[in-house]
Amino acid sequence: MTSNSSTQTMQEALRQLESETLTALAALSDVLSLEELRVSVLGRKGTLTQILRSLKEVPAEERSAVGSMANGIQDGLNQAIDQKKQSLQASKWQAQITTEALDVTMPGRVRTPGVLHPLTLVTEEICDIFRLMGFHVIDDTLCPEVETDYYNFEALNFPADHPARDMQDTFYTHVGPEVLLRSQTSNAQIRHMEAHQPPVQVVVSGRVYRNEEVSSRKNVLFHQLEGLWVDENVSMADLKGVLHRFVALFFGEERPTRFRSSYFPFTEPSAEMDVQCILCTGAGCRTCGHHGWLEILGAGMVDPNVLQGVKIDPEKYVGFAFGVGIERMAMLKYGIDNIRAFYTNDQRFLTQFRGLS
Ligand code: PHE
Repeated sequence: MTSNSSTQTMQEALRQLESETLTALAALSDVLSLEELRVSVLGRKGTLTQILRSLKEVPAEERSAVGSMANGIQDGLNQAIDQKKQSLQASKWQAQITTEALDVTMPGRVRTPGVLHPLTLVTEEICDIFRLMGFHVIDDTLCPEVETDYYNFEALNFPADHPARDMQDTFYTHVGPEVLLRSQTSNAQIRHMEAHQPPVQVVVSGRVYRNEEVSSRKNVLFHQLEGLWVDENVSMADLKGVLHRFVALFFGEERPTRFRSSYFPFTEPSAEMDVQCILCTGAGCRTCGHHGWLEILGAGMVDPNVLQGVKIDPEKYVGFAFGVGIERMAMLKYGIDNIRAFYTNDQRFLTQFRGLS
């Protein structure tokens, strides 16, 4: 090959490579294939690099012309590749901006914080009042809802077949007649006194169950708060004082109340307290059973038999106990005319008590 022909071949090869590369470049649509093309032409083993390496075969006098042509093509291709890279990047971002657009003016999702159940709020409020009067609020885990006949009845002076058992229609379990769902929180009195000698001054709240016909003022499940104060000098006057103070603090001094005698096998004497119905203000309505009053608690002086049963000396100690119906307290405070509202999980009802106390 003469020097001229080898120069010509090289120049042709360079031009062809240039135009092929530019055509391939124009057809490219992603950065990855662009990089592949760059490596195949301009990389260490790339076609243009190889041509540049063979420059030494070109006669010395023509080498500089061919060399500068090759360098020019190399620069041009480098530039074209850079430009293409920029435009590919720009269109990639553009696509991203349109597909992943974020509307910062869109309103956020509102997450409403949960609220405490009205019965929880009322129980807490009642406990706070008794704390003020020196009572300890005890944990109800030691006073089970599934209870034996002994703690729910017998130890509370309801012997078997005692007619007072009919006052509380009880749910019995499949386990047998001695295992039942407690019908009152008074089981807590026995369990607490078995474990503690006087002085005791406690309140404890929890669920109770009665096989009642469900109505706007009665449900098969409801809540009670039991109170017990046993010491050397506790009197009926203390019982009256504590309960009147409690009711006045909860409903306000103005609210009319009644304190009347009653009967429970485990207290002697026994009493009940009524609060005037808020819904009819005494005129009589469905919620108060047309009496104008709603019973909120039972109470009395602890029967000496009960103290003896838990090995507390009735010659030395006296005490009083009371059991408050929590739903009734809530209904009478907030004017709720249907007890079922507490259990149906209607958010419109439940959220009205947000922040109330
Ligand atoms: N346990 C009684 C009831 O549920 C209420 C009560 C409690 C009465 C404590 C006297 C003393 O009806």
